[in-house]
Amino acid sequence: MRQADNPHLINFAAGVPGLDALPFARLRSSMEAALESDGASMFAYHHPEGDHPLRSLCAARLQARGVAEITPGELVTTSGCTQALQVMLSILVRPGEIVACEAPGYYGLLELIAEAGARVLPLPVGNGGVDLDATQEALTRWKPKCLIVCTSLSNPSGATLTEANRQRLVQICRETGVRLVEDDIYAELLDSGAPKPCRAFDDGSTVSFVTSFSKTVSPGLRVGYCAPGTPELADAFAARKCQQDIHSSVVSETILRTFLAGGNFDPHLAWLRERNLRRRTLALDAIGRSFPEGTEVDAPWGGYMLWVRLPDGIDVTQFQPQAQAAGVAYAAGPAFFAAPAGGNRPVSQIRLNCARAAEPDLERGVELLGNIFSARA
Ligand SMILES: Cc1ncc(COP(=O)(O)O)c(C=O)c1O
Repeated sequence: MRQADNPHLINFAAGVPGLDALPFARLRSSMEAALESDGASMFAYHHPEGDHPLRSLCAARLQARGVAEITPGELVTTSGCTQALQVMLSILVRPGEIVACEAPGYYGLLELIAEAGARVLPLPVGNGGVDLDATQEALTRWKPKCLIVCTSLSNPSGATLTEANRQRLVQICRETGVRLVEDDIYAELLDSGAPKPCRAFDDGSTVSFVTSFSKTVSPGLRVGYCAPGTPELADAFAARKCQQDIHSSVVSETILRTFLAGGNFDPHLAWLRERNLRRRTLALDAIGRSFPEGTEVDAPWGGYMLWVRLPDGIDVTQFQPQAQAAGVAYAAGPAFFAAPAGGNRPVSQIRLNCARAAEPDLERGVELLGNIFSARA
C-alpha cells in the first residue's frame, strides 16, 4: 500500500484497482443529489447501526441473492469490511483462543487475528476453495471460536466455493459448534453472478456475514456492513462499534445510498466485470508466454487477482528488490500465511493484481517479471 501512489512503478502488489475503475461520474452525481435531498443531516450525528434506507437496500440485495429472510434491522453498517471483521473478532474471541482461516488468506485478516491476541488455525485452500475434509477434521479437533472464510474470489487464492460446498461448510460449522464468519467482499465481482451466500443456508445461528463496497464501488467511501447473526450478537456488535467510532461516516453512507437507489450499481458492475476479465486474460496470456515452465495459475471466475505458483525452489522474496529496480512490484506469497511455530512458510507463490496498471504496462510488467524468474529458474 505504501507504494500505491508511486507513478514509476507497475504495481501488481497493492490490492486496489486504478482510479479509472471507479464510477467517478456516477458518484459525483450521487453526491450532488445526496446533498440536495439530505442537506444538513448528512453532517450530523447518526445511529450506530447506520443509515436505515441504505440498510434496506443492502437487505434487498441480499434477499435477491438468496438470503430470503434477512431484514434491514439485522444489519449494522461499518467503516469498510475491515471494521466488520475486527468487531466480529472482538466480540467472539478472547486472547489465546483459536481462530481458523484460509491458508493462504488475506494478510489484513491475519493482522487482525494477531491484534486480537488469538492463535491462527490455518486451513488449506485448493482450486475450489477451503478444503472441506481438512476443515471438518481441524474444527472437530481444535474447536476454534470461529472460522473466517472469503467464500467468493478469495484473496489471494481467487478460489470460489460452489453452492453445494457452501451448504456443506455451514453444516460442518453447525455440527462442530463453530461460528462461520463469511467474508463476501468480492462476491459481486464474479463474472456470472455470485452463488448464494452461506448465510442463505442458515438463520444466523451459525453464520455471520461481512462485506463492503470497497471492491465494487469505492474503497475510499469506507462503507461496509455486517449481519452479525443472532439478536444478541447484533446488540453486542452495535455496542462495540459505537464504542469505537459512534457510527460510520454519514456523508459516505448517504452518497452510497443515493448511488444504489439511482440504479447505478448493476451497470457499473457489468462494466467492471468486463474490465477485470479483459485484464485477467491479458495477464494470464503473458504469464503463459514468459513465466518459468511448471508455473501454475488457476483462472479465477472473476475479480482481478491472480495467485501464481512458481516451481518449487524459487524464493520469490529474493527477487523483490530486482523486480522493483526494474519497475515492477508484486505481493510475495509468504505474507498470506501465518508464521507456523518452528516451521517455514511457502515461498514460491506470488499474488498479481491485474486491475491497477494501464493495460500495456500490465503485459509488459508481467513479462518483465516472467523474464526475471525464468532467468533464475
Ligand atoms: C478478503 C478481504 N476482506 C476484507 C478486506 C478489507 O476491505 P475494506 O477495504 O472494505 O476494509 C479486503 C481488502 O483487500 C479483503 O481482500
